[in-house]
Amino acid sequence: MKINKCVFPVAGLGTRFLPVTKELAKEMLPLVNRPIISYGVEEAVASGCREVIMITGRAKRSIENYFDRSFELEYLLKARGKDELHDMIVKISDMAEILFIRQREPLGLGHAVLCSEPVCKNEYFAVALPDDVFLNEGDPVLNQLIRVHEKMGGSVIALEEINDENISRYGVAKSQFEIEGGIHKIIDMVEKPKLEEAPSNLAIMGRYVLSPAIFELLRNQNPGSGGEIQLTDALKTLCSQEPVWGVVFNGRRFDCGTQKGWLSANVQLALEDPELRDVVLNIVNKELNQPQS
Ligand code: UTP
Repeated sequence: MKINKCVFPVAGLGTRFLPVTKELAKEMLPLVNRPIISYGVEEAVASGCREVIMITGRAKRSIENYFDRSFELEYLLKARGKDELHDMIVKISDMAEILFIRQREPLGLGHAVLCSEPVCKNEYFAVALPDDVFLNEGDPVLNQLIRVHEKMGGSVIALEEINDENISRYGVAKSQFEIEGGIHKIIDMVEKPKLEEAPSNLAIMGRYVLSPAIFELLRNQNPGSGGEIQLTDALKTLCSQEPVWGVVFNGRRFDCGTQKGWLSANVQLALEDPELRDVVLNIVNKELNQPQS
């Protein structure tokens, strides 16, 4: 079945980036020259999703503005002969049909996904967490999941093999068996387990294809870890009722939900940009050549 809709939950408080997120949406922090959210939307569009649904909150107006037309800016750029910049700005607002739904209280990721029910209730749909930025040359990671859904049916989650020391930061999936090239039949999952309680080293990352049956489960889901309605808890029930596949994706992931991850992603992408590479290398070389105190 074709996946047309992709939901972006962006209503979280972004406390790990305070104080900047007191006023600025975390998703608008730059990754070199584009906001974090832009990478996710570009991935969804490249994966064939025509409709983007953002679940937003009070402090997230800048996301709506970023994807809207900006007639004054467009007019001024055109009038000043900056056609390339003009076209770039227009392209952003033409990227996809974007619908905004307010999550009035940040009651958790699961609750944010539930807010998309009025639009997604009758079909399988994608969910992308913008904090996880995936970059790869070939097939976008979301499209890797969509292809598995088209072949096997059911829901699909992105998996990454994780080191022992990081396992307790993620939802971890239990595989019943692996059918081919990193595709697992998932039969259970645990949110942020201790290492000794983790059912595998397969951590759940921020891309999903979900069955509409998830909405009923989310509606009846009790608050879990952190007092929030957790998507992983509803997925745990879903995989006991319907097929849920896990895909060990091909590609690089940057965790832009933490300051360290966001900074690493910026440095890495700057190193890959011909115009910025030397800036980073010069700073690092200068630092390395300083006499140690
Ligand atoms: P996180 O817990 O990782 O992000 O939620 P956060 O709440 O924004 O940031 P911290 O932990 O306080 O630093 C994962 C995703 O779910 C969204 C977030 O915006 C993020 O994309 N989310 C979370 C919601 O949309 N609503 C919520 O109530 C909670």
